[in-house]
Order: sequence, then structure tokens, then C-alpha cells
Amino acid sequence: MQGWAASAIFAIRLYRKRYMAQAPTTRKRVTTLRLVEMKRDGIPIACLTAYDAMTAAIMDGAGIDVLLVGDSVGNVVQGHDTTIPVTLEQMIYHTQTVVRSVDRALIVTDMPFMSYQVSPREAFHNAGRLMKEAGCGAVKLEGGSRCVEAVRMMTESGIPVMGHLGLTPQSIHQFGSYRERGIHADEAEAMKKDAMLLQDAGAFAIVLEKVPAVLAAEITAALHIPTIGIGAGNQCDGQILVWADMMGMSTTFRPRFVRRYAEMHDVMTSAVQSYITDVRSKDFPSTEESY
Ligand code: KIV
Repeated sequence: MQGWAASAIFAIRLYRKRYMAQAPTTRKRVTTLRLVEMKRDGIPIACLTAYDAMTAAIMDGAGIDVLLVGDSVGNVVQGHDTTIPVTLEQMIYHTQTVVRSVDRALIVTDMPFMSYQVSPREAFHNAGRLMKEAGCGAVKLEGGSRCVEAVRMMTESGIPVMGHLGLTPQSIHQFGSYRERGIHADEAEAMKKDAMLLQDAGAFAIVLEKVPAVLAAEITAALHIPTIGIGAGNQCDGQILVWADMMGMSTTFRPRFVRRYAEMHDVMTSAVQSYITDVRSKDFPSTEESY
């Protein structure tokens, strides 16, 4: 094994040992059933995205309920403008890395563009690959009525499915913009119907992205499964953010629905600058840091 890989695994194990015991919640594995119970008991569900083992270990240790291996990996990790180029093989790879370092959070994996649109049968087969080869606990797909048959096929065979309504980034070229969805009456009505159809098809939760808070509250009240909001107000049963957004990794992407909990871009820039200074001045490595 490479030295850096051994160090990364060592760091993850050390992190788990030191901090997981201090996590505020029980270390019992979060299940889809637990999320429905949390809705029933009025306990808000905290979700974040994750795409790699080290970041996922930190979030899991901190007590996050759900980690979504989102196809936003296309924007955050791969540098694409959209989520469209992301492949099923890449989602399997990223999920495997997350699965290795998480022992409590429910891991949900996004089905990438064109892995579920062709036919319910193909969608079912690809969802099965994500469960079997990647090891996630559930899959997520975007859309309502058009996916219902695929969702039913999966849930009837034991594959838990999270729906995703509102702004669905895989349809960006059809929408033409990232504006909020459900602001017009016909769009709002269609979204309410879609939410019901997904619930009836066996979905265990639904992400509502960039939806007016009032509409999200109405959908949340009408469902017995939880809604997870992103830019959808605080009446949803849970919230999700892309981890790089809430950590302040970017200086340019600052949508109003993102609360920045750290300014990691500045922290990391300053750390790299200090390193460069130390290398140039030969202050690093010191005698103690040498063999
Ligand atoms: O891919 C993703 O990160 C998502 C969230 C924004 C919900 O789908």
C-alpha cells in the first residue's frame, strides 16, 4: 500500500476513535424507517452530500443522519458545469469510498443522468448495481410521474428510493435556468401530484429543491414520508446542503439558500501560502520533521 493511502486510513481510524464517541447522537445505523419515525416525532433530519472517504468520516463522526453521494460530484469534484456528464461507474466508485468510512449515516446514491430514464427495467438494473457493487443504503432519482413505474419496481424489490422534485439539475437544458420551481400554479399543482405519486410508489423520502417555502410546507404536511429541503424553507422535515457550499469552499458560488458554516477557501489558501513560505525559506522540514 502507498504511504499516503496508509496515512489516510490511519487518520480515518484515529478520527473515528477520538471523536465518534463524542458525537451527539446514538451510533445506531440510520435507516429509511428511522427517517419516517423522525418525521413522525418532529425531529428534523440533517443531510449533507459527500463524495470521498475522509470527508464522509468527518460528517458521520459529527452525527449527520444522511449522506448523499450526489451527482453534484460532477460540479464539486470533476469541475463540470452540470451534473449531466457523471456516469454510473463514477457514482459506484464515489459511493464505495464513502461506504468504507461511514458506520452510522444512511448513504443514499444519486442515479446519474440516463441511468434510469431509458426504461423502468434498465433503471431497476442500475439501481441494483448501486446497491450491490457500491454498497449504498438507498438510491435517489429526479422526477415525478415519469419515474413512478421505475420507483415502484425498485421499492417492490427492496431497493429504497428517495425522490427529487422542484429544481432537478439533470433537466437543466430543458428548464433553461436554475430558477426556483413551483412558482406558477400549474407547476405547483404538478409538484403536489408528483409527490403523492412518489409516496404511493413506495419512496421513503423526497428532496424538494428550490421550491417556495409555502409550497414545500404544503407538500410536507400532505405526506407521511419526510421531505428534505434545499432552498425550500424550514417547514421541510429535513435539510440538505452540498458540503462544499456550506463549508465555503468557493468564492464565487453564493446562492441565497446556502448558509456558509466555515470559510474553507480562505483557511486552505492561507495554509497553502504558509507552506509555500516555509518551503521557500527552508523552515520546513525542521530537524524534528526529518529522519
Ligand atoms: O446531487 C446533489 O447534490 C443533490 C442535492 C442538491 C440534493 O441532488
